[in-house]
Amino acid sequence: MKIAVLPGDGIGTEIVDQAVRVLKAMDLKFEMEFAPVGGTAYESHGHPLPESTLKLAQNCDAILFGAVGDWKYDQLERQFRPEQAILGLRKHLGLFANFRPAICYEELVGASSLKPELISGLDILIIRELTGDIYFGQPRGRRIAVDGHFPGAEEAFDTMRYSKPEIERIAHVAFQAARKRSKKVTSVDKANVLETFQFWKDVVTEVHAQYPDVELDHMYVDNAAMQLVRAPKKLDVVVTGNMFGDILSDEAAMLTGSIGMLPSASLNDKQVGLYEPSHGSAPDIAGKGVANPLATILSAAMMLRFSLNQAEAALRIESAVKKVLASGLRTPDIWSVGTQKVGTKEMGDAVVAALAVQ
Ligand code: IPM
Ligand code: MG
Repeated sequence: MKIAVLPGDGIGTEIVDQAVRVLKAMDLKFEMEFAPVGGTAYESHGHPLPESTLKLAQNCDAILFGAVGDWKYDQLERQFRPEQAILGLRKHLGLFANFRPAICYEELVGASSLKPELISGLDILIIRELTGDIYFGQPRGRRIAVDGHFPGAEEAFDTMRYSKPEIERIAHVAFQAARKRSKKVTSVDKANVLETFQFWKDVVTEVHAQYPDVELDHMYVDNAAMQLVRAPKKLDVVVTGNMFGDILSDEAAMLTGSIGMLPSASLNDKQVGLYEPSHGSAPDIAGKGVANPLATILSAAMMLRFSLNQAEAALRIESAVKKVLASGLRTPDIWSVGTQKVGTKEMGDAVVAALAVQ
């Protein structure tokens, strides 16, 4: 088994370092190989996703990813911007199924901006389609308008599209995931306005016929955004397209108190996966040693479970993280009065120590 480790930009290096330490402390049999990605790779190789990094990723069983992006690259031509690295990896590896759990740890109920009773015990799984939709749809670009409200004016356009097999496979992923949970799927769409999402709804409904034991309901995306802050515990598995999933998963993450706690997995049909924290590169705090490494550590746990067939080791990491939270240690993003503020490395130390006493 081989893992590609791609720390990337901003806080990526610091948080991935801690996850790697945790993995090493587990004494499991796998190799790890590091490679540059994002702005860092643009600096060293002239491209955010160099051939060598892509090759490595394609030849591994799993990828542990930090984060990419920095405002200083905002002026670059789009193909050279750091974000293209993650989009390229998703596309080239066919990572169409993105799992974004939003779990509220009991110790962190107070860190949420929502009332404790609304989020205590929250456990939502957002399943976001990751290789289709307006993110990848062609054509796209800029041109002079020939119609619309201002013919002759400059305009920009993207294409929202989904093929039937793309919707079918993500629907299967969602129904199968629901079978292991509360057997309830909410499919989020905008069928009242968009042709693409009327089709989405029709196809999800069709696939549902194969899962009579799972309950399916449909929700418009604007309503879903509202329900997430009104009564989030009514949701369990949420399946949606790439664009809506991007937005809703950030919203769901924040319900739990901190986006610094949430791991994610992006899988293809061979269970090869890319594992990354749900948060970004946070250039404002990079290098300060204050970033929360727990989302990345928990992503490493997801990697052990989904791609490396080590469910027991995954549980060990997850319970070590719970123990550390219970002991009162907090990075600044999840700190509250009465708890002890620690930095990135101290948090990593604590998880490693908690693993040792299990
Ligand atoms: C995410 C991020 C990415 C996305 C960006 C960095 C391209 O926001 O993983 O949610 O939009 O998918
Ligand atoms: Mg996002």
